[in-house]
Amino acid sequence: MAGSSPLTFSEATSSQAFAERFSAGGESRLSELLVAAVTHVHELIKQFRPTQDEWRKLIALLTEVGHASDERRQEWVLLSDLIGASALVEEINSRRPRGATPNTIRGPFFRADAPEHRSGSSISLDGVGEPLVVSVRVEDLDGLPIEGAEVVTWQANAEGFYENQQPDLQPEHNLRGLFRTDAQGHFSYRSVVPAGYGVPADGPVGRMLSMTGYPLRRPANLHFVIRAKGFETITTHVYDAGDPHLHEDALFGVRPELIARFEPADVDGRGAKAVNLTFVMIRARPGRGA
Ligand SMILES: [Fe+2]
Repeated sequence: MAGSSPLTFSEATSSQAFAERFSAGGESRLSELLVAAVTHVHELIKQFRPTQDEWRKLIALLTEVGHASDERRQEWVLLSDLIGASALVEEINSRRPRGATPNTIRGPFFRADAPEHRSGSSISLDGVGEPLVVSVRVEDLDGLPIEGAEVVTWQANAEGFYENQQPDLQPEHNLRGLFRTDAQGHFSYRSVVPAGYGVPADGPVGRMLSMTGYPLRRPANLHFVIRAKGFETITTHVYDAGDPHLHEDALFGVRPELIARFEPADVDGRGAKAVNLTFVMIRARPGRGA
């Protein structure tokens, strides 16, 4: 009977034919997202008209992305980051009042098991690189200190590599640590000045984008995740104001509020750098991820 039989699948009806399969019930937000995504994919196919061989190559690329991902390396996150999808999701979900520290992408090198250190400790386990002293204060929008905030930091070394990129060259957990703020919302640690780096080009995502001439550089940065009870978790970066690549970040993570000056300093008679950072948290909002 006309109107109740399913649509015949064709170029003209493809996305409706897909959407028609979703009945009421089930996870409706997921169905909506799936229908929207598939509609866009069908539109793209109709516009770009790939050959079967080209389509097989795309499937092969996505297969490789999966194979390149494990507990040390997350190629899917890299893909999401490089196409600006991660930055856009952050932007939509974590718009904050003026004065609050903005979120940026977490990036592919985060590890959940960073070892805890006492304030003043060094997270450089191999001591290689120009010393950096990082002084951190965590406060609320009124400038009041937040005590007991948990701050996880991770960064690249002086050559621009994270320890999980170089498991045979760097000690495990090098340049990573978890700290807690004191009653003044403060802690400090020693590290080394990170170098900027190329986004990994040895995996399928980097290889594909470098073939297109896409810039794969990131300015030098320190990563932070800051958690405190009753406050929205901050996931962010801090960038060195002196980095020449500040304005061409492949991952769309640089924001003016996140640029800090790494000043010359003296550490134990050695030339070093020092940076003071203030992170401003906002109260957790109902219905938002903490
Ligand atoms: Fe980074």
